[in-house]
Amino acid sequence: MKIGVLTGGGDCAGLNAVIRAVVKRAEEYGWGVVGIRYGWAGLIKLDTMPLKFKDVAGIQRTGGTILKTSRTNPFKYPDGPETIIKNARELGLDAIVAIGGDDTLGVAAKLCRMGLKIVGVPKTMDNDLSGTDFTFGFDSAVNEAMHALDNIVTTGESHDRVMVVEVMGRHAGWVAAYAGIAAGANLILVPEEPICLDDIVLFLKGRFDKGEKATLIVVAEGAVLKNETGALAYDNKVDEFGHVRLGGIGQFLTDEIKKHLKCEIRCVSLGHTIRGGPPTTFDRVLSSRFGLAAVDLIKEGKFGMMVALKGTQVVSVSIDDATSKMKALDPEIHKVSKALIY
Ligand code: F6P
Repeated sequence: MKIGVLTGGGDCAGLNAVIRAVVKRAEEYGWGVVGIRYGWAGLIKLDTMPLKFKDVAGIQRTGGTILKTSRTNPFKYPDGPETIIKNARELGLDAIVAIGGDDTLGVAAKLCRMGLKIVGVPKTMDNDLSGTDFTFGFDSAVNEAMHALDNIVTTGESHDRVMVVEVMGRHAGWVAAYAGIAAGANLILVPEEPICLDDIVLFLKGRFDKGEKATLIVVAEGAVLKNETGALAYDNKVDEFGHVRLGGIGQFLTDEIKKHLKCEIRCVSLGHTIRGGPPTTFDRVLSSRFGLAAVDLIKEGKFGMMVALKGTQVVSVSIDDATSKMKALDPEIHKVSKALIY
């Protein structure tokens, strides 16, 4: 038996820990493992590397992915899916572990229907994938964001400044809410509740009147303005899955606040600084559990299924179900973030 493993979509902390666990469990079963490079692109171009446990021992400590990644959508290439199926056969792969978010796993679900044997492992720092309580990569990202916010608070307070901090998270507010709550942000703006500029100005005025000038505002990159249809994007370009590159809401808000209030204000975008770097303990453990469980799914013949975290248990759910809709911020967490504003 020989299995392939690939990482697709944006990288996040914990990918290497999954790869390591997959190789470990596969070797325990006496199976060979082929690393597929650059996500689905590696199966189109036959870009692979052999993986033995000696190659992956210790990599759970590192961020990124030793297999590299890309946002390749085989269904956008002429004969892309057919080429993948042919090449998987040529490589002698009996099954594939696809580690990715909704795009990579959406492709996995379609290829599964075409006959390829695939199991999924959910990753994303955005934590916006349905079917699992948490994706790995999220905890590491929010911890990085929290540390950055803690630093921004001390410089902001020293200068009596309003600090507007934009964080990634696509169209969900998980990252903004968790990092903002942990750092004690004064205001947390998430895509789940459109932004009303007048309310923000009033809020700040109220703080200034009380002599509270230093203010931390955390805004999710996907946050939208009331009465506007979509989130701000850097340009009109879309990736192979049709996604625009989000960003700019932090600077936009900063400029708008400046128009209405006389205050010292700065905007910081944390961007990719919270996506890279080594995983937290939580992510290393979750990724390791997911990697072992994914190989067990193959052993049980549960193709088209994805490992997932439900409460404290690792379970399996259908990839189709998990990728059918985005997991928005939990309303309870949203309420907590609002209950703590001051
Ligand atoms: O999906 C993960 C993510 O980090 C989003 O939070 C962000 O919008 C996007 O990827 C950025 O992608 P890129 O790496 O292409 O800039």
